Amino acid sequence: DIIKEISGLNVLENELKEKLQIKDVIVVAGDSDQFPWVKKELGRACVKRIKSSLTGNNIVAVNGGTTLADIAEMMTPDPKNKEILFVPGRGGLGEQVENQANTICAKMAERASGNYRLLHVPDVVSNETYQTMINEPSIREVLELIKSSSIVIHGIGDAITMAERRKTAPDDVKKIIDGNAVAEAFGYYFNEDGRVVHKVQTIGLQLEDLANVEHVIAVAGGASKAMAIQAYLKQAHDTLLITDEGAAKELIRG
Ligand code: BG6
Repeated sequence: DIIKEISGLNVLENELKEKLQIKDVIVVAGDSDQFPWVKKELGRACVKRIKSSLTGNNIVAVNGGTTLADIAEMMTPDPKNKEILFVPGRGGLGEQVENQANTICAKMAERASGNYRLLHVPDVVSNETYQTMINEPSIREVLELIKSSSIVIHGIGDAITMAERRKTAPDDVKKIIDGNAVAEAFGYYFNEDGRVVHKVQTIGLQLEDLANVEHVIAVAGGASKAMAIQAYLKQAHDTLLITDEGAAKELIRG
């Protein structure tokens, strides 16, 4: 659109597409590290993209984080009244309640006048509990909905920031540091080359499930996330990235 042309954001988008070798990028003005309202702009762009991607089977899986919480704030009902079912991508993952996938999912559904289902599972589970829980009919049903989602929306975080925020056990922190992790997304920690160096065992969407999802949207902004974004996208070329000018400029410089 005209605003993007005048502000040069479309030039940034093209440069970034080229640099990251990804199919599609949206860049919004500002740097969310500096101004919190920029996350709302990321949200606005994301909501617009969700609406343009709605078809017959509209199951939207959403993950956690402060960026996703802001996307939920910007959600509005679909003018064409298409039906949407929102599901959380994963369990809690050690986030504060307002930043948990379940909370965000319920809020998005409310604002979209859509429906939602929740995943009532603990954050991190032992192997034994994991096996029992995924066979529990009520959980299984939601897991199947999650796996059949047509749109997945997730954040990308800096590895160390996320490990700290989740109060990760010392052994795992060591693994994350020793593996030179720089990025994190839904419980997976990635090194600079986009290789997984650590994974939190949780119930819900797994990295390999993304291959079967029609629209995968990663939303992450702020210059401080540039390295994380670049690393994560090394193994996710089909993902649509929605980011801000702060991160985009840093990515192009880097
Ligand atoms: C977490 C997600 O809740 O939020 C991660 O599980 C993501 O996928 C992280 O990396 C990003 O958080 P924020 O607050 O920077 O948007």
